[in-house]
Amino acid sequence: MKTTSVRLAVAGAAALALTLTPALAGAAPGRPGEPRFSEGADGAGDPYFPLAGNGGIDVLHYDLDLTYQLPDPAPAPLEGQLDGVATIQLRATQDLDRFNLDLRGLTATKVVVNGKSMRFDQVENELRISPRPKLKTGTEATVEVTYGGTTTRPRDIEGALYGWVTTRDGAMVVSEPEGSATWFPVSDHPTDKATYDYEITVPEGSVAVANGLLVDQETAGGWTTWTWDAPDPMAAYLATATVGDFELDTYTAANGTPIIDAVDPALPDSASASLALTSDMLVFFEEAFGPYPFNSYGAIVDDDSVGYALETQTRSFFSRNAREGTVAHELAHQWMGDHVSPGRWADIWLNEGWATYASWMWSEEQGRATAQENFDDVMTIPADDDFWAVVVSDPGPLCLFCGPIYDRGAATLHALRVEIGDDAFFELAQTWVEQYGGGTATTADFRALAGQVSGLDLEDFFDVWLDTPEKPTTW
Ligand code: TRP
Ligand code: ZN
Repeated sequence: MKTTSVRLAVAGAAALALTLTPALAGAAPGRPGEPRFSEGADGAGDPYFPLAGNGGIDVLHYDLDLTYQLPDPAPAPLEGQLDGVATIQLRATQDLDRFNLDLRGLTATKVVVNGKSMRFDQVENELRISPRPKLKTGTEATVEVTYGGTTTRPRDIEGALYGWVTTRDGAMVVSEPEGSATWFPVSDHPTDKATYDYEITVPEGSVAVANGLLVDQETAGGWTTWTWDAPDPMAAYLATATVGDFELDTYTAANGTPIIDAVDPALPDSASASLALTSDMLVFFEEAFGPYPFNSYGAIVDDDSVGYALETQTRSFFSRNAREGTVAHELAHQWMGDHVSPGRWADIWLNEGWATYASWMWSEEQGRATAQENFDDVMTIPADDDFWAVVVSDPGPLCLFCGPIYDRGAATLHALRVEIGDDAFFELAQTWVEQYGGGTATTADFRALAGQVSGLDLEDFFDVWLDTPEKPTTW
């Protein structure tokens, strides 16, 4: 009784505070209820990458019209010329007199908002746009940015190649975690998903491969324009517009998904032999995670290398080789990472742990090592090994792709499966995808859903597996 009245009093006070806040804040210009214009934040608020993404806007759609060519002869180090018009549909989420997009190493030459030229400038990797008339909360606007410049081979903060990586025959475009700004003006954080269209014009003979379905291919005057349609909401890091010598292979998988593979013909056949398993894998992962979430799938296998593969949405990217375990890993990411994306980069184990666990499941399905055997393998790592010193739920921006994110992440999921049983575990996986698909989720969301689906108190379990920089012994 007493508790109840205390709660009511607290709730009442909170409601009162909420009503009063706008009036108090309104001491500056404008009366209550009238717009109060300010600048959108220069980042989405991710502690690992403070300037990635932007505040005050929600991008709905990117229409990317790109023209790309390599100088002849190719300079050393490699460079390309990229020119673009990005037509961006966005909604203001606050009253804006200025907002930012992320753009790195390229120059904007013109910005048009709702048909009118606007003032803008570029400070470091931020393109700052001052719309007039100003944008009120909830208004939609069309922002057209004309931009371009010289492309290089950019690197992420760990030193790995990423973004628009110039190659001898085009470019490898793989942008995790915040490399999309190296090729288009973007709200470069997973929390701002959008749909995409591409028109990519390259010299005749080159192929441009993006996300989704190929809807048109037209050649005139020595140039080919490749038109791709990617209507499923997508995090910016999963967008690609890879250019090069590619052979396209189109077919329909056993589950009905249209497949478009793009393989560099300079590679030996063995480089893509595992891609033939994609159809069977789609059927297998649909059983585990629910229906495949996108309009298409396929792989890009390039003859240059960034040193890793990436789960670019609907069109996974492979460097030189596509090994079976990696093919399974990137396909599983389409559910775990792409459809359900990390709310913050600290949540990266939800991507890599699931994708690694899925490849363990595939291995077991094929009669090789079981998930339990893979788990046992991880547990042979001695307790004093640095492997156990990473806090999986908060690895820091320099350890997004450290071994433990993958292997301890997968081991966590296997231990969870044993703890709650197969039925609850796969109900959890499918509910996770259903509930958060098309958006983002965090480790806290996962812990809460696991508790809810299993009906068990799993807090100690997750503390031991995710939050403690020590080898789990009891849980
Ligand atoms: N997300 C990729 C995968 O596991 C890996 C990845 C992205 C990566 N960037 C990287 C690995 C940089 C090492 C270094 O499929
Ligand atoms: Zn991965």
